Amino acid sequence: MLVEDRRTEADWRLGFRSLEAEIGDGVELAVEGTLPSELDGTLYRIGPARHDVYGDRYRHWFDGDGMVHAVRFSGGRVEYRNRFVATDKKREEDAAGRRIYGGFGTRPAGGPVARVRNVLPKSAANTNIVFHAGKLLALWEAGRPWRLDPVTLETVGEDDMSGVLGVRKAISAHPKLDRATGAMWNFGVDYGPRTAISLYRTSAEGETVLVTKVPLDFAPMVHDFALTPTKAVFVLHPISLPRVPVALMTGRQSFGDSLRWEPERGTVIVSVDRATGERRSYKTGPFLTFHTANAWDEGDDVVVDLCATEDDSVMKLFYEVMAGRDFVASHPYLTRLTLRSDGRVEQRRLSDTPIEFPRVAGRALCRPHTRIYGATFNDGARFLGTPAAVDLANGSSSVATMKAHQIAGEPVPVTKAGASSDDEVWLLTLVLDARAGRTEVWVLDGADVAAPPVAVVPLPHVVPFGFHGNWVKASALP
Ligand SMILES: [Fe+2]
Repeated sequence: MLVEDRRTEADWRLGFRSLEAEIGDGVELAVEGTLPSELDGTLYRIGPARHDVYGDRYRHWFDGDGMVHAVRFSGGRVEYRNRFVATDKKREEDAAGRRIYGGFGTRPAGGPVARVRNVLPKSAANTNIVFHAGKLLALWEAGRPWRLDPVTLETVGEDDMSGVLGVRKAISAHPKLDRATGAMWNFGVDYGPRTAISLYRTSAEGETVLVTKVPLDFAPMVHDFALTPTKAVFVLHPISLPRVPVALMTGRQSFGDSLRWEPERGTVIVSVDRATGERRSYKTGPFLTFHTANAWDEGDDVVVDLCATEDDSVMKLFYEVMAGRDFVASHPYLTRLTLRSDGRVEQRRLSDTPIEFPRVAGRALCRPHTRIYGATFNDGARFLGTPAAVDLANGSSSVATMKAHQIAGEPVPVTKAGASSDDEVWLLTLVLDARAGRTEVWVLDGADVAAPPVAVVPLPHVVPFGFHGNWVKASALP
């Protein structure tokens, strides 16, 4: 029995346990290897950390309360803090000593009356963390952002983005930076009798405006979008809510349970002119997508690279892992959509290496990139967790050397000083070492992803598997 328990401890399930411990005062961490001296800034990571609310476990990976981790690099030293985002939801549930609200894949708690009362979602602030115009924002896709102090990680409050986000408004967790102007673009899906996508622009100075609204004739799940120098692009895959989602509206079913995969619809792509709001619609075959890697203009054509799976089996994986069960879903592959000016869509797979959590070098945002970084599968692993770089000239990939008990998340590329190619990045990622029972920060050389990490920084605990993170240069921080 003991042997069986140990086997369970040392595998991926460790990454789906709750972490309640907060280290609010920075602690200095030991560094194994040599940190690049130019790394001067903070790696922010976010993800669900409270999967069990007073003994009541969420059914879905996306549901737990968000915790932010800040790993500050300075002069070869590393300091670490982590805190929950003190959302209204978490404070209410802490005060009540029980779970109240639902999440993406968990319905609200309690009986039929309580579920109706608490049917509107409340932000878990667990999906992405971005720093823009002096503000550190914890993002979730079905509500407003929560603002944090970038140094102490204390929660400042909910942010209405210059007043454009009313109480019920949502903004996605995947804003895009337009490097030419310093503006941050984002969108929110407003579900209802007339579902629409709102496109927002936040200037470099932090002023947000609603650019345009895109009415939809169905209610798809939209997690991410793409930005080119002239357009915003929405890829609307055929997974959507029913026209009148009664079970969702009455708290009998979660949002995720209400979604229906209808491949016969195909995938609709809508491009929106950033300047005029003019829209153009395209159609291609069915696939499911969570993340775009990057996009750009080629004359009047638009190129969008994204991760696509052939069916919706991954939607089940997110429940199964929370129940501690192995599950093999269809793999995501890097896919290029070229939207032709004559209305055609060309679609091709860019690499045979499965990839999710795609990232490109900062220098390549909104312009042609030569490589995409992301996470692929370890040998024999059922779970994404190995940093990889895919070179698009020939589709070849280089993959980090990992042991079966080491599982990495999204790699964050940090541009090297004076970089003149997309290879010249450091890749920062969190790695669960299930055997050692801890999470580590790995620093990999993007130019040689297969080489051992140049530095490893063990953290004081296991960080539950999270979603996204970003690097912020020290010179940008207060
Ligand atoms: Fe995401």
